[in-house]
Amino acid sequence: MTCDFLELAAPGVRGLTPYQPGKPESELAREFGLDEADIVKLASNENPLGPSPRALAAIQACLDHLHRYPDGGGYLLKSKISEKFGLPLDGITLGNGSNDLLDIIARTFLTSAHNAVMSAHAFAVYPIATQAVGAELRVVPANAPDHEQPYGHDLAAMRARIDERTRVVWIANPNNPTGTWLDPAALEDFVAGLPPTTVCVLDEAYIEFMDPALRPDSLHWVARYPQLIVTRTFAKAYGLPGVRVGYALAHAQVTDLLNRVRAPFNVNTPALVGAAAALDDEDYVARGVANNRAGMAQWQQGLRALGLGWLPSAGNFLCVDLGRPGLEVFKALLPKGVIVRPVANYGLPNFVRITIGTERENAIALRALGEVLGR
Ligand SMILES: Cc1ncc(COP(=O)(O)O)c(C=O)c1O
Repeated sequence: MTCDFLELAAPGVRGLTPYQPGKPESELAREFGLDEADIVKLASNENPLGPSPRALAAIQACLDHLHRYPDGGGYLLKSKISEKFGLPLDGITLGNGSNDLLDIIARTFLTSAHNAVMSAHAFAVYPIATQAVGAELRVVPANAPDHEQPYGHDLAAMRARIDERTRVVWIANPNNPTGTWLDPAALEDFVAGLPPTTVCVLDEAYIEFMDPALRPDSLHWVARYPQLIVTRTFAKAYGLPGVRVGYALAHAQVTDLLNRVRAPFNVNTPALVGAAAALDDEDYVARGVANNRAGMAQWQQGLRALGLGWLPSAGNFLCVDLGRPGLEVFKALLPKGVIVRPVANYGLPNFVRITIGTERENAIALRALGEVLGR
């Protein structure tokens, strides 16, 4: 007799939709008989410069030790983070990507008796992490399309949805997929005004790409506001999405709780040594940021020439307004070897999200986009 496993699943899991990753190059090559080397993947907000040479050297040097478990306390990497940002070691939690940390935070603070608040059009892992543990998800309408941060987080509306059962509020700054960001003073007011029963997760996955003038003073806020958890990643500007490593910065007591939930050895050895080396590779990060700035200008000029609009972005991607279904354009670009990201699942059916690539990749993708749109 077969059983209905859906019936057996935890109630929160039954309604989940799996996270949709960017389409891998290998899959596209198989489907269309393309040479993988010719494919331009601008779908996962990766660093187009390849991994940091210093990180690569450190990873290669650790391979002889893979018969040993990783350092479960992540001492080397945590020390480097502590030193770089002037933060105490007991305020750092390491994750298998920052995704892992979002999940750990949800499991630490949320139950079926609680709720989490997030903005519409915000990162897709927040609903998964929230609902998997059976908590109620409160999705707050975002800014109107004519706002200076269109589709961005509306902090006042989010504050209004927080009640005594709200244990977590998810904030992405800049947000994926919109690229929108928050005014630092307004964000600090929001954090300072939270009830003592709510933890605020400030997801700064793209912070290194942000113009320093727009960045909040979030690392200092961690000391000032004990309810604040800042999450960051080595997957974007540090160029290491393939090994999976991120970190959370928080009050020591919060950090202690997160480390109770964290799986033992959640960060593997290549990730630990690669991230520690990447943190020192300031030249690599600077080159990535400079490439991003130049690529943003190239894309904006190209999009303007195609008569297309886009949302303001502080990240390494642009959310492009096609005025027609993004899924169709995504599909039409595939045989041309270009992968972008449709974002209908984010409530933005007429947009696609395009990662800023190298100058060459941007030029190829812009040409293909023009061909698909007949412009
Ligand atoms: C806003 C945001 N947060 C977190 C992540 C997760 O990054 P990772 O788990 O690779 O560190 C991403 C990845 O795309 C993201 O866009």
